[in-house]
Amino acid sequence: MTAEACTGRPRIVLDCDPGLDDAIAILTAAHFGELVGITTVNGNVGIEHTTHNALVTAQVAGLDVEVHRGAARPLIAPTMDAARIHGATGLGDVALPELTRSVASDDAVAFLCDAARSVDDLHLVAVGPLTNVALALRRDPGLRSRLAGLTIMGGGAHAGNVTPVAEFNVWADPEAAAIVFSEAAPLTMVGLDVTHKVLLGGSEASRMRSAGTPAAHFAAGLLEYAYDRCREFGLEAAPVHDATAIIAVTHPHLFRRSTHPVAVELHGEHTRGMTVTDVRPPAAIAAEPAPPAQDVVWDADAAAVIDLIVQAVINT
Ligand code: BDR
Ligand code: CA
Repeated sequence: MTAEACTGRPRIVLDCDPGLDDAIAILTAAHFGELVGITTVNGNVGIEHTTHNALVTAQVAGLDVEVHRGAARPLIAPTMDAARIHGATGLGDVALPELTRSVASDDAVAFLCDAARSVDDLHLVAVGPLTNVALALRRDPGLRSRLAGLTIMGGGAHAGNVTPVAEFNVWADPEAAAIVFSEAAPLTMVGLDVTHKVLLGGSEASRMRSAGTPAAHFAAGLLEYAYDRCREFGLEAAPVHDATAIIAVTHPHLFRRSTHPVAVELHGEHTRGMTVTDVRPPAAIAAEPAPPAQDVVWDADAAAVIDLIVQAVINT
């Protein structure tokens, strides 16, 4: 893992549920990628808030990008949120300007299907519950074959954050995740194994504030809110999960990954929403019917990833 610069800017559609770290992911994707569109999904907070937050993030940063509103609820599961972490409206206590933008459509699924057909070399990066992506696969089963890559922030091989074994994005809509993991392999799983190693705190927030741009000021406020919440859990800095998933696409050489079958658990009393990752040697599982293999990201050059996220925020 070296910190050499990325050449080329991948074309990215970002499916997200802003959310503190989603908003920082939007800025990161716009800086290091060509951000082709944003789709929103119910997740950290309700769809009206996640959509408003995506629009306001794009507005603060002056991004020329369409926002398409997506699913308002999970496929089957009851609607849950993460307002305890992200605040009641999803962007903590950051003062927001009056919104002057509006959505390009109310059909994120159609946008995802159209973008995959019309944009070459498109990477779909999903950093919220996978409801929109599952619905897009249902509408267009050939969707995955038209993408250059599918990367999700979600899951994890070793631990959860909402339950002992389930990560929020998978846990919030496990049926959608099960469709995506089984029908859109191979995907890249940027899960808690790696995102819990990319921690931003006070010094990164200060760097952002001193940049003095509206987007950097905004992102500093989001980060400060995030690590204040993390302190309540005994952490000194905050994982910026969703921006880490963007860097995994734009700077893949900074990450360590390997291929393993992954199944989404739907039924366990204590394990619903778990991404069951088979790390046994391939020879040990060759004779068994296995779930599809996914690209599991384990580790990163965390200092380099953190620096890139700060650079993205400062320079957007
Ligand atoms: C994921 O859950 C959400 O709260 C964050 O935005 C991130 O996408 C981390 O588990
Ligand atoms: Ca998210």
